[in-house]
Amino acid sequence: MDHISLPKAELHLHLEGSFEPELMFAIAQRNKIAIPYASAEAVRAAYRFSNLQDFLDIYYAGARVLIAEQDFYDLTYAYLKRVAADNVRHVEVFFDPQTHTERGVAFATVIGGISRALKDGEAGFGITSKLILCFLRHLPEADAFATFKQAEPYLDRIAGVGLDSSEKGHPPSKFARVFAAARDAGLKLVAHAGEEGPPEYIWEALDILKVDRIDHGNRSLEDPRLIARLVQEGMTLTVCPLSNLKLCVVNDLAQHPLKRMLELGLKATINSDDPAFFGGYVGDNFAAITDALTLSQADLITLTKNSFAGSFLSEGEKARHLAAVDAAASHAAL
Ligand code: HPA
Ligand code: ZN
Repeated sequence: MDHISLPKAELHLHLEGSFEPELMFAIAQRNKIAIPYASAEAVRAAYRFSNLQDFLDIYYAGARVLIAEQDFYDLTYAYLKRVAADNVRHVEVFFDPQTHTERGVAFATVIGGISRALKDGEAGFGITSKLILCFLRHLPEADAFATFKQAEPYLDRIAGVGLDSSEKGHPPSKFARVFAAARDAGLKLVAHAGEEGPPEYIWEALDILKVDRIDHGNRSLEDPRLIARLVQEGMTLTVCPLSNLKLCVVNDLAQHPLKRMLELGLKATINSDDPAFFGGYVGDNFAAITDALTLSQADLITLTKNSFAGSFLSEGEKARHLAAVDAAASHAAL
């Protein structure tokens, strides 16, 4: 059985990270913005990173061509269209409003285009979605509060808040107050932690931010007490194998900790993070890590079940998707 037979959810995807070079060129042209590369191939050739910050510099530069509501629509719709082919049934996607509002693009423009595409994607591909607003952690907490204020009229379209960008030197505790405000507003909470930052940042995400999910979480494996806590709470980790390889979080996929996470009883899931930059969508991540770690059919079933169980869907919707995984698995096993 390969992963394509199994329905799945993607829980760690930055919409701006799904911006393929071809679409970047097309949108740059219609917005009359120059790109310092000759072709989509030249853009791809520039995607070689030795750490998170290397990547973020290029990622923010690419996002500069996104100006109009239609640009955000096209970006989002292209992602949904692509993952429909990977048998993705539900997505919980991040967007980074500050990357756009600081360039003078209105919050309404960004969320307008994204939410219109999510609606059309559900109608066209049957993919349901939740939207997660990420605060940029390299900026002050006051800026996150200003962004949260801009989001207020749209909270019916936003399921949760997250924390992304440069991890080292920007611990979760820096955002304690704005996460408390988001929690008071009834939003779900997630945070990138333990991608490059130490286990202590994962503790802070749990104890200070009180997150519902940890994004990445790789470095939890350095701390047995933390592993025990994550297992005991059934905390979902949104793991991103190809991202980890491209950002040198691991040197080789064969050394990736995913299999160990499953053996320890951690609720790991497979995700693509920034597929246009890291060499593959969620299906490519499943294929590459299955191959590198010789994952079993049971592992694949566990991973896809974890993706629905760890989502922010209702219990009824989760049960329906989990039953669909079982049905697909038994069908494939025949
Ligand atoms: N880590 C932190 N910030 C990000 C990432 C990531 O993997 N992708 C996009 N923003
Ligand atoms: Zn990420």
